[in-house]
Amino acid sequence: MTASPASAPGPGSLTVEVIGIERPADGIRQLRLAAPDRRPLPSFVPGSSILVTVPPEHPDEVEVVRAYTLIGPAFEPDAYAIAVREIGAGSRRIHRLTVGRSLTVSLPRSGFAPVLAAPEHLLIAGGIGVTPILAHARWHHETGGRITALHVHQPGRDAYRDDLRMLTAGRVTHLVGRGGVVEELERLIGEADPAAHLYTCGPDGLVRTVEEVAERLGVTADRVHSELFTTPERPSEPFTVDLRNSGRSIEVAADQSLLEALEAAGVDVDSQCRRGVCGRCCIPVSGGSIDHRDLYLSARERAAGTEMMPCVSRALGPALEVAL
Ligand code: FES
Repeated sequence: MTASPASAPGPGSLTVEVIGIERPADGIRQLRLAAPDRRPLPSFVPGSSILVTVPPEHPDEVEVVRAYTLIGPAFEPDAYAIAVREIGAGSRRIHRLTVGRSLTVSLPRSGFAPVLAAPEHLLIAGGIGVTPILAHARWHHETGGRITALHVHQPGRDAYRDDLRMLTAGRVTHLVGRGGVVEELERLIGEADPAAHLYTCGPDGLVRTVEEVAERLGVTADRVHSELFTTPERPSEPFTVDLRNSGRSIEVAADQSLLEALEAAGVDVDSQCRRGVCGRCCIPVSGGSIDHRDLYLSARERAAGTEMMPCVSRALGPALEVAL
């Protein structure tokens, strides 16, 4: 008999406990998070992520919210496994967590799922962007899907090398640095089934390269699935936001987020992470094009162009209309 999944303490969230910490590579901690009563956690789709909320350690600190991909087994897992690279104060605080520490995490959210009907899957990871690729590879390993993987990483940063080799039955290439990436992509796509799907997760530059090579080789956009690992850093221009419901117009300066501009104008927008990962500040968009810079919305949601995260995302052009 299967135990019922652990219950959530509040809508959309779970209380978990750190039950294991490993170091799969320099600068990376893998945490295993289980329900306090050790019931199975909710199942998830490969490529799903959770938001981890770490309470402050001192009175002058604020809570930290970060999104991490689940890398372990997906069906009624005994624990969620996440890999955390140390980049900045937030991840450093997560690195300081010890076994037994209690945390709040969101329920898994999928925005990077495998397409079941695809005859073959090319999995392309950059750096720690290997984590959702690992979850995909594990799922295909268990279900018999045909996969080939490419991991582009810095010297000594080949976390999960042995796992990838095992899960892909050796069909994995490692490249140290970006040299040769385009040629390797051309080879992989050229040798793959014409209906294969591509999945890429990593920094902005690598993801854009994969998308450009795929488009040049005739891979249709619906067969390319991308997930950014870090928010893209692009120059920001000022723009005007029109509030449809109130008829007001607000100027957003180049060095100001839309969320900051709305708050300064007295418009109440809920927020939490203020860095594009939690989804809390999401607002409806009724006109104009969006420069999506968040890590929360799925490719499908971005393409719809009807919602945005004003803490990081901006207008693609001189003006935007939001339904506020
Ligand atoms: S406040 Fe978290 S996505 Fe904007």
